[in-house]
Amino acid sequence: MRTQVAIVGSGPSGLLLSQILAQHGIESVIVENRSREYVLARIRAGVIEHGGVDVLTEYGVADRLHREGQRHDGVYLQWPGERRRIDFVESCGHSVWVYGQTEITKDMIEIRQAAGQQIFWEVSDTAIVDADTDRPKVTFVDADGNAQVIEADYVAGCDGFHGVSRETIPASIRSVRQRIYPYAWLGILAEVAPSTDELIYALHPDGFAMHSMRSEKVSRLYLQVAPDDDIANWSDDRIWDGLSTRMALDGWSLASGPTLEKSITPMRSFVSAPMRWGRLFLAGDASHIVPPTGAKGLNLAIADVKRLGLALASKINDGSDDLIDRYSDDALERVWQSTHFSWWMTSMLHVPAADDPDRDFLLQMQLTQLHNVTSSPTSMRYLAENYTGAVLPWP
Ligand code: FAD
Ligand code: DHB
Repeated sequence: MRTQVAIVGSGPSGLLLSQILAQHGIESVIVENRSREYVLARIRAGVIEHGGVDVLTEYGVADRLHREGQRHDGVYLQWPGERRRIDFVESCGHSVWVYGQTEITKDMIEIRQAAGQQIFWEVSDTAIVDADTDRPKVTFVDADGNAQVIEADYVAGCDGFHGVSRETIPASIRSVRQRIYPYAWLGILAEVAPSTDELIYALHPDGFAMHSMRSEKVSRLYLQVAPDDDIANWSDDRIWDGLSTRMALDGWSLASGPTLEKSITPMRSFVSAPMRWGRLFLAGDASHIVPPTGAKGLNLAIADVKRLGLALASKINDGSDDLIDRYSDDALERVWQSTHFSWWMTSMLHVPAADDPDRDFLLQMQLTQLHNVTSSPTSMRYLAENYTGAVLPWP
C-alpha cells in the first residue's frame, strides 16, 4: 500500500490529523490495534479549551459539540468549609467546554468513515521502519492475519503512551523527563444529574475529590486513591461515601445514582523530546502525558495535531520545510506550559501520604495556596488563563 501520511493510532490525535490532512487534500491511512467498538466505548477526558473547540469547529467535527456540549465560564475550588468560584470570563475573557472525549471520538470516526478514510482496526505487531530515510514504512498484521506494509511520505505516531512510535526514535537522541505521582484517580461515570452547575475540585484531608459532568443526566466524579489500589476494593457505596465526605459543604448535598463505569488511572507527568525523527512525527500522548488535574491531555493532543497537520500540508503542498522543521520546538512550548500547570494543580489538590513526615506542613501550604488563588485577582487570572488554555496562542 502507498499513501502520503501513515497514521498509527485512531484516538483523538490520529482521527483529527486525518481530518485536517483530508481538508488540505492529503491522503492518509490509519492503523489501530483495538477494535472500533473498543475505541468508541473508551471513557476519558471531558473538558475542552476554547481554542480546542475552535480547531474542531474549523475542521468540521464540532457540530454535535455545539448542540450538546456545555460552555463553562468558571470552576469551584473547595477545601473543608469553603467553596469558592473562579470566573474565567471575568479573569481572562475565555471559557471551556464540557463534552466527552468519547463523543468527540465517535463524531470523528463517523465523519472520517463517511468520507472513505481507510482505517485498519485490530492490527497487531505494528512497527515503523526506515523513518530516517525518505521511504518510511509502517508494517503490521491486519485483523485477518495478513502481513501488510504501508509505504508513506511521512509517518505520524499518534498511538498514545503505550504505543510503539516513541520507542522508534533512538534512545541516544531522546530525552525523557518525568514524575510519577504517589497517588491515582478513581473515576466513575454515573447516571445521575450533576449536583453542581460548574466543576468542583476539592481538597480534603482524606484526599482529593472532583465533580464533573457529561450531560444533564450523567455525572463524572473522581477520588484520589493510592496508586496500587484495586478497583475491587471500592464498592459503589464506599465511592459515594468518599465523594460525599470529601465534597461536603453546609447546605449542599451530593446526589448519587447507578454507576455506568469505574476505573483507576495512575498519574504521571512525562515528556519525551524531540517530537520528530526524520519523517516520523509524534503527537499527543505518544510523546507526553500529564496528570488529569487541569484537564490538559486531550487539549495538548488537539494543539499538537493542528500544528502537525498544517506543517505537513505546508511541506507536501508547498514544498516548505519551515513548519515541519519547527514542529517539535513549537509544540513543546505548549507541552511544557501545560505540564507545569497540571503539576501545579495536582500538587495543590492532592493530599500527601499518611506517613509523609511533612504532611501537616504540606497540607497547610495547600490551604494557603487555595486561599491565595481564590482571592488575589492576579492568581485567579493565572489559573483561568491556564485552565482555559488562553495562556499561549493556539496554533
Ligand atoms: P490515545 O487516546 O491514547 O490514542 C492512541 C491510540 O493508539 C489508541 O486508540 C490506541 O489503541 C492506539 N494504539 C496504541 N498502540 C498502538 C499500536 N502499536 N498500533 C496501532 N495503534 C495503537 N485527559 C484529560 O484531559 N482528562 C481526563 O480525565 C483524562 N482521563 C484519562 C484517563 C485514561 C485512562 C487515560 C489513558 C487518559 C486520560 N486522559 C485524560 C488523557 C487523554 O484522554 C489523552 O490525552 C488523549 O486520549 C490523547 O489522545 P491520543 O490520541 O494522543 O492518544
Ligand atoms: C474531567 C477530567 C479532568 O481531568 C478534569 O480535570 C476535569 C474534568 C472530566 O472527565 O470531566
